[in-house]
Amino acid sequence: MSRVAIVGATGAVGQTFRQVLEERQFPATEYVLLASERSAGKAVDWVGGQHTVKPLTADSFADVQFAFFSAGGSVSREYAPLAARTGALVIDNSSAFRMAPEVPLVVPEINADAARQHQGIIANPNCSTIIMTMPLWPLHRHNPVRRVVVSTYQAASGAGARALEELESQTRDVLAGQPAVPSVFHVPCAFNVFSHNTAIGEDGYNVEEKKMILETHKIVGDGSIAISPTCMRVPVARAHTESLAIEFSSAIEESAAREWLGAAPGVTVVDDRAQNRFPTPLDASDRDDVLVGRIRRDPSVPENRGLSLICSGDQLRKGAALNAVQIAELFI
Ligand SMILES: NC(=O)c1ccc[n+]([C@@H]2O[C@H](COP(=O)([O-])OP(=O)(O)OC[C@H]3O[C@@H](n4cnc5c(N)ncnc54)[C@H](OP(=O)(O)O)[C@@H]3O)[C@@H](O)[C@H]2O)c1
Repeated sequence: MSRVAIVGATGAVGQTFRQVLEERQFPATEYVLLASERSAGKAVDWVGGQHTVKPLTADSFADVQFAFFSAGGSVSREYAPLAARTGALVIDNSSAFRMAPEVPLVVPEINADAARQHQGIIANPNCSTIIMTMPLWPLHRHNPVRRVVVSTYQAASGAGARALEELESQTRDVLAGQPAVPSVFHVPCAFNVFSHNTAIGEDGYNVEEKKMILETHKIVGDGSIAISPTCMRVPVARAHTESLAIEFSSAIEESAAREWLGAAPGVTVVDDRAQNRFPTPLDASDRDDVLVGRIRRDPSVPENRGLSLICSGDQLRKGAALNAVQIAELFI
């Protein structure tokens, strides 16, 4: 039994942490809900009682065994090492430590063993990366992947609770004949599709795309996989969808791929050609599994070595809170 802290408990990921921990009956004796001064004192009804949100301070982690961080990179950089020094196992949702060599970057279905090497902090990967690697891994294990061309269709809530509110309020404004005024995003998000809101480097790739390349290499433990990502936002509330065109080392049969994906934990195949039913973000929302479908041969790759598919996963669950709780469960 343990004392558990959630840093960023009032945010989009923090709220999902509360749902997931309750659903999975995480064996906590006490929860400490932490946020900024803005939310301090707020009452939250949860796990059979009322909890009061406390302001995050250096003293927040006394006797805490697990500390889930989801309050952004700068908060993690300042407080996660402190929590770890106090004796907590930190599972961090920000990008602050993901590429640090001493910090494991873990998707439990893929590299649970890496978690054992932790020195107090374990990083939860980027949400688009988790959702891509969930179907990629069971295929890669059978037939090593040489190259992936991935395009994302990312939900507004991936940028936080305020971004979701912006999508909702802009949608209402546009339907009422008013202009969509951007505030969280750099362009209107309602009725629009746009390049991911992270900064673009001199090479033309944005930060999200770079994360998908580097983090996939670290999780899978294979830096030789060539990855060509294009990350986009779409006016969807929740769950990221991705299209993958995958080139394998040797010929691959659609039927075998379907079988491997069907047997993979955390993956559900939704691939009904007759009814034209495939993964959608609405179906993936509030679900733990990543949905995979449109599994088909890619005729542009020679020797029958190419396969295309789409996947859709709840980026607040498997892309964030659920994956982090699964990591913590490895230590119970
Ligand atoms: N959204 C996603 O789908 C997703 C997926 C994977 C990873 N992540 C990562 O998870 C983290 C949180 O994202 P989010 O989407 O949940 O953001 P969010 O909805 O904006 O929530 C941010 C949370 O952090 C708290 N916070 C902000 N500044 C703080 C400070 N100085 N001290 C203490 N608490 C502070 C906020 O508290 P107040 O209520 O007091 O403002 C709020 O609880 C980010 O690092 C993000 O990159 C997000």
